[in-house]
Amino acid sequence: MANYSSLSREELQREYDALKVAYDSFAAQGLKLDMSRGKPGAEQIELSAPLLDALRAADDARSENGMDVRNSGLFDGLPEMRRLFGEIMGVDADRVILGNNSSLNLMFDAVCQGMVSGFGQAPWGQQGEIKFLCPVPGYDRHFAICEYFGITMIPVPMTQQGPAMEVVEKWVQDPLVKGIWCVPMYSNPQGYTYSDETVRRFAALKPAAKDFRIFWDNSYCLHHLKKDHARLANIFELCKQYDNEHLVFEFTSTSKISFPGAGIAAMAVGSYNYDLIKKRVMIQTIGPDKVNQLRHMRYFKDLDGINAHMEKMAEILRPRFDAVLQLLQHDLADTGTATWSDPQGGYFISVDVTEGCAKRVVELCKQAGVTLTGAGATFPYGNDPEDRNIRLAPTFPAIAELKQAMALFTVAVRLAALEKRLAQD
Ligand SMILES: Cc1ncc(COP(=O)(O)O)c(C=O)c1O
Repeated sequence: MANYSSLSREELQREYDALKVAYDSFAAQGLKLDMSRGKPGAEQIELSAPLLDALRAADDARSENGMDVRNSGLFDGLPEMRRLFGEIMGVDADRVILGNNSSLNLMFDAVCQGMVSGFGQAPWGQQGEIKFLCPVPGYDRHFAICEYFGITMIPVPMTQQGPAMEVVEKWVQDPLVKGIWCVPMYSNPQGYTYSDETVRRFAALKPAAKDFRIFWDNSYCLHHLKKDHARLANIFELCKQYDNEHLVFEFTSTSKISFPGAGIAAMAVGSYNYDLIKKRVMIQTIGPDKVNQLRHMRYFKDLDGINAHMEKMAEILRPRFDAVLQLLQHDLADTGTATWSDPQGGYFISVDVTEGCAKRVVELCKQAGVTLTGAGATFPYGNDPEDRNIRLAPTFPAIAELKQAMALFTVAVRLAALEKRLAQD
């Protein structure tokens, strides 16, 4: 297949006609496939099924401190589970606050606390037009939280090393910039891991706003696809060097380790933030679901147990990612109609199609029965200024379906590019 930029109008038209036939035959198949959300597939969920039996009615239901987990109390969770999440996030157990099944919930609550009560300053909601920095492309649900609270979003370009730090360092001079969303390991959607230097520059930030916070969403910290995997520097360790521990709220969860509907979410903070969050959480709840925490502890036991489980998870996911990447390479590499990320972990592949064509590609796929994440979803306000980025989520469909969906996707990418070229010439 030749690069489309080198083809004559007649050759482009011939290519278009051939692809249109292929597209119509996909449309006639009545496909109904969903590649829109990063949900674990059935096989992944099954892998954790025995967890549900790890705590039975006849079992001792006490935590290591002797507490009956079926009763109320322990607003920040079981000590053994806080220790385990401390190991995962690289902090001491007493810096960990456990939530229920969703880390997004913890992020929402933290932003809400900033808006309503503030972090040692006037509530964000009373300071005028406050702003968050949003590395793009990024995670649509982070952006949705900002929209919900009326926080102005400022896009910051992503690089393979993380957000463009010179842009971040400039923006934090604005006292109304109160936060930044970061997915530092296997970013959503590209799968990039921030370099040591990027993490160091985050730890060294000197924001004008004393109540500025980094929302360090480390959802994919254990989600390696390759044995020789990426490593992320410990932001809390680096923050200590700059007397900046208060800057970071770190989040993670077992949503993609055990069950998204019934996992454990956690937050790690420095001691100053711990006291602020504690004040709110102690009013908000009598405590998280400790039965589920004990069940997870009994099943996984320790970090080695989780890592062994994640290796099995990677064996399920690797063929899916490989199938998508192989089809992209085979069908698109020579045409010059798209570029894509080659993630070493996480849940997504980010594809940049021909400028001005992402919405059309998603529409073509939808019309032929394949739902993708909406074009623009990876940008604040759903507005991808170049209309190029599409997030692919390979985890949920079965492999045979995934291959079908991708075969349609690559036809749609080429068709959309050809429509644009033929309309211009
Ligand atoms: C970057 C990121 N953060 C958070 C979440 C949601 O996590 P949780 O299920 O713990 O709320 C996701 C889910 O796709 C995600 O991609």
